[in-house]
Amino acid sequence: MQHDAIAVIDFGGQYAHLIATKVRRSRVLAEIRQPEDSTDEFRKYRGIILSGSPALSSFGEDSAYNKEIFELDVPILGFCFGHQEIAKHYGGQVVNGKQEWGHADLHLTREHPLFAGLGEVEQVWMSHFDSVVEVGPDFEELGYTILGEGSQPHRYAAIGSDKLRRYGFQYHPEVDDTLHGDEMIANFVLKICGCAPTWTMDSYVTEQVEKIRAQVGDGSVFLLASGGVDSTVAARLFAEALGTDRLNLLHVDNGLMRKDESAQVVEMFREMGLDENFHFIDAGETFLEALAGKIEPEEKRRAIGDTFISVFESEARRLGIEDHLLGQGTIYPDTIETGGTKRADTIKTHHNRVPIIEEMIAAGKVIEPLADLYKVEVRELGEMLGIDHDMIWRHPFPGPGLGVRLLCSDGEVGDAEQLAEIGPAVSDAVASLGLEAAPVPIKSVGVKADLRSYEHPVLFHGKADWDTLQTAAGTIFKTVSGINRCLWNLTASMPGSFRPLAATMTRQRLDLLRECDFLMMDGLRRHELYGEVWQCPTVLVPVEIDGQGSELCILRPIHSERAMTATAARLPIELLAELRDSITTLPGISGLAYDLTSKPPGTIEWE
Ligand code: XMP
Repeated sequence: MQHDAIAVIDFGGQYAHLIATKVRRSRVLAEIRQPEDSTDEFRKYRGIILSGSPALSSFGEDSAYNKEIFELDVPILGFCFGHQEIAKHYGGQVVNGKQEWGHADLHLTREHPLFAGLGEVEQVWMSHFDSVVEVGPDFEELGYTILGEGSQPHRYAAIGSDKLRRYGFQYHPEVDDTLHGDEMIANFVLKICGCAPTWTMDSYVTEQVEKIRAQVGDGSVFLLASGGVDSTVAARLFAEALGTDRLNLLHVDNGLMRKDESAQVVEMFREMGLDENFHFIDAGETFLEALAGKIEPEEKRRAIGDTFISVFESEARRLGIEDHLLGQGTIYPDTIETGGTKRADTIKTHHNRVPIIEEMIAAGKVIEPLADLYKVEVRELGEMLGIDHDMIWRHPFPGPGLGVRLLCSDGEVGDAEQLAEIGPAVSDAVASLGLEAAPVPIKSVGVKADLRSYEHPVLFHGKADWDTLQTAAGTIFKTVSGINRCLWNLTASMPGSFRPLAATMTRQRLDLLRECDFLMMDGLRRHELYGEVWQCPTVLVPVEIDGQGSELCILRPIHSERAMTATAARLPIELLAELRDSITTLPGISGLAYDLTSKPPGTIEWE
């Protein structure tokens, strides 16, 4: 079935994906297009949305897009930068310096289909330096904002021309802080563009099943089943289309999984009835051999990636993969230019850069039934296909697994002089907040101004509320250089001395990390926080504290959207007390700390 669709032009700044997701909530397909795409590529759409941008319209930044789209006889709606470009194109004026930030009240000037079902005043979200101060002859003001009591009205917050079917919102309806943004977007898509809401998950399944059958013919599909959401949903969909006898699954245990995880993946596929051609290889020993003696984070990553390639190649050939189509759980953001996280390259290393897979892609032997879906839609599909709820809502887990959460060291302090300078500086920085502080003599990876950093963490100790801890972290990052993480000590007293220990990847250390990680995850579930926290790495750092133990354990619960940025998640004090009791009594643990660092300057993972 041909579905009505909307094009969302991506001017950058991460808004476009959010807009597309919101359009799709009205059961109308939305696709991301680039500003320079040809006019012909836009002809199949029933409407176009121009996203916001970090660029300044007033200075003509980013204005070299395909303006021929304005000749198309379909409705066009712009948000923020897109709104300003529409105003300018039709004779209006945009100036710099009339900014608004945060919540504002949108006062509607008249009834209009774009605002059908909404009140006369609506809460919207503003974030702009530029403003429209004049509109062209065919346009009218549909709404103005007042940012706070007593402030001057901000004109032209919503504009439109029913004659031209061109509209603009200065605010961002795609963010949740615009309370009825979803309704405004749905009104545009359904009432102004006249799209039929036919793009449902039911229809998606029906169409994909037909497509898979047509592409696979009498053949069969081979899929790597990591146990992650995407590959599991893809496996279920393939089974729906082809039956289990024509679906070959391979799960590789790299020895870097969570406690009992591979066994759970095997069991889950058995419960789903997908175990007919399910192959499992325990390659833990091979990975440990490849990691032996490796310390440097990137070297460890490369060893894990290379080993994955060789294990996959030998298993795939043994199972005769060339005879099958290769199924992949690739999702929509990975298929388009600006999508994915900055890590997209790294994330894909394992699956997509394996030479044997590249040969298959080149030969057209790859099939990706989730390539049109966002993660949230993959989850909806998974629920519809009857996959276990807990599986569908699992936290993301990195390809190199616990390999990036078990730090290694040669035991040398390395930069004792720099640490000697940092020590008094961090103590001074937080003394007025009633905290003690000291740098930890190991390094972890972080990100500053879009560049990788490899610097020391600081450990605070003292009674403090959450806001004080955040203030302390902010002060340290602002005033002391050479620091990319702030930790809060969870044991009874401030450590007197830290000594880095020589340590590499061993099964024993991995098992200890698995146990700590298990206790953390179990705690989140018991306190019903698993769904609220986006991800929660647990990390082991080879450091002796006050002459005791050999591993400092770090808890890193975070909130995030799509992993580009993150903030530390606040855990209840009762849970922290339980974790202190259970983790610090494990043999070898020297201390326990809570990572308070946002991203940037920290990354989510420590390596
Ligand atoms: P960072 O540490 O860069 O992580 O803030 C962002 C997100 O990406 C995940 N991550 C990875 N996933 N292979 C993966 O499949 C990797 O090499 C990798 N490194 C980081 C990380 O867990 C977080 O969700």
